[in-house]
Amino acid sequence: MRWFAIAPQLSREQWISELFNKYDRKVEWLDKTNQLKNDRYEKSEYGVLLYEARDQEDAYETCRSLNAIYPHLGIILLDQSLSIDIRKAMRSGALDVLVYPIHPDDLDHVIVEREQQYARVKQSGKTTSYMTVCSTKGGVGKTTFSVNLASAYAAQSKSVLVIDLDLQFGDVSMFFDRQPKRSMYEWIKDSSDRMSGPIQPYVESYNEQIDVMPAPLRPEFAEVITPAHVQHLMEKVRGKYDIVIMDTAPYMDDIVLTALEHSDEIYMVTMLDLPTLKNCRLFMETLETLQLKNSLKIVLNRNSKKRGIAISTAEKVLGVPIFLTLPEANKLVFQSVNEGRPYVISHPKAKISRLITKSIDQEADVKRKSAKSKPSIKVVSAGRSN
Ligand SMILES: Nc1ncnc2c1ncn2[C@@H]1O[C@H](COP(=O)(O)OP(=O)(O)O)[C@@H](O)[C@H]1O
Ligand SMILES: [Mg+2]
Repeated sequence: MRWFAIAPQLSREQWISELFNKYDRKVEWLDKTNQLKNDRYEKSEYGVLLYEARDQEDAYETCRSLNAIYPHLGIILLDQSLSIDIRKAMRSGALDVLVYPIHPDDLDHVIVEREQQYARVKQSGKTTSYMTVCSTKGGVGKTTFSVNLASAYAAQSKSVLVIDLDLQFGDVSMFFDRQPKRSMYEWIKDSSDRMSGPIQPYVESYNEQIDVMPAPLRPEFAEVITPAHVQHLMEKVRGKYDIVIMDTAPYMDDIVLTALEHSDEIYMVTMLDLPTLKNCRLFMETLETLQLKNSLKIVLNRNSKKRGIAISTAEKVLGVPIFLTLPEANKLVFQSVNEGRPYVISHPKAKISRLITKSIDQEADVKRKSAKSKPSIKVVSAGRSN
C-alpha cells in the first residue's frame, strides 16, 4: 500500500512524516495527479492520495477521474475553505474530507482505518464485489431478488452481506426470517463521528454465509443516514465479504445514487407493464449520464404470458436486452416470503432458482474469460508513457 500527497500546505508540516513513520509508512509527495503514472503506481495496487483541492469542482473532478483509472486508490480530500460538499465529494468517490487546519488525530484515524482495511483485504484474499438491486417502482420484486441472489452466491460458498438501503421500509430481515434488534442506525449512533465502530454487532447472520445489515428499525430514523455513511459502510466491509448486495428503495435519491456509483453490478428489476418499462427507460437515461450503464443488468421479474406484452416488446421499449427473465411463481414465492426462506435455499431445483444460479455462473465465466484476455493491464499502466 502506498501513500501519496498532493498537498503543498501539508508538506510544510513536520508532524506529518513523524505520523507516517509511526506506522512504518512514507508519503510520496507529488505535484500533480499524472505523476502517479510516472511513479509506477499500478491500477491493481492499493493506495491513498491526500489531495489538497484548488476548489470544489477540482475536488469532485479529480476524484471522479482518478477513480475511473485507479479503482484501489482512496482519495482523502483536504479542504482549505470549507467549500467542499461532503455528500458530493463522497458521490464523486472521495473516501473522506479533512478540513484545514488538519488535526493530527484525524489524519491518524484515516491512516489506521485504511491500513486495517488493506490488511484485511490482503489477509482474506477477498476482492469484494458490490451489487445494487434497484427499480423505479415498489413491489416489482427487488427484495425477493436480492435475498435470492445472495442465496445463490452463498450456495457457491461465497460470503455475502446484504445491506438494506430501503431505509424507511426495508424488509430484508423479514425475508430471512429475522427480527433484528439493531441496525445501521445504531451502528452510526454508537460509533463516533468517524464511524470507527465495528459493524459486526449490528449485523444479523442468516447462516454461515449470509449476513444482513438491517435498515433502521423505525422509518423516522432513516433521515439520519447520509450517503457518506453508506459509502463508509461499503468501504468498511471491503475484504470481509466476497459479495455485498444492496437492496434499495424504489426511487432515486442520494443514498441510492451512492450505492449505484460504487457498484460493480447494477440489477434493475422490472415487470412486463408499459408504465414500469417506460420509467425504467428514464432511469436508464440517468444511469447513462452518470456513466453507469455498463454495469447495468435488467431483470424481468414475474414474467407470464397473461401479461399480454412480449419480451421482445419490452426490450424494444428499454432499448437493451434483458439479462435475466424470472417467471411468475406465485405459490413458491409466496411460501418462501412467508416462511422467511429464500426460494433458492428452500427450492434450489425450482426453475426460478436455477435461472438465478445459472445467471451468476455465466457471469463468473464471462469474468474469468475477460480476466484472461487482459493480461497486459499491469504492463500498460506501469509504462512511462506520459
Ligand atoms: N417471481 C415472482 N413471482 C411471484 N411473485 C413474486 C415474484 N417476485 C416477487 N413476488 C412478490 O412480489 C411482492 C413484492 O416483492 P418485493 O420483493 O417485496 O418487491 P420490492 O422489494 O421491489 O418492493 C412480494 O409479495 C413477492 O412475494
Ligand atoms: Mg423491497
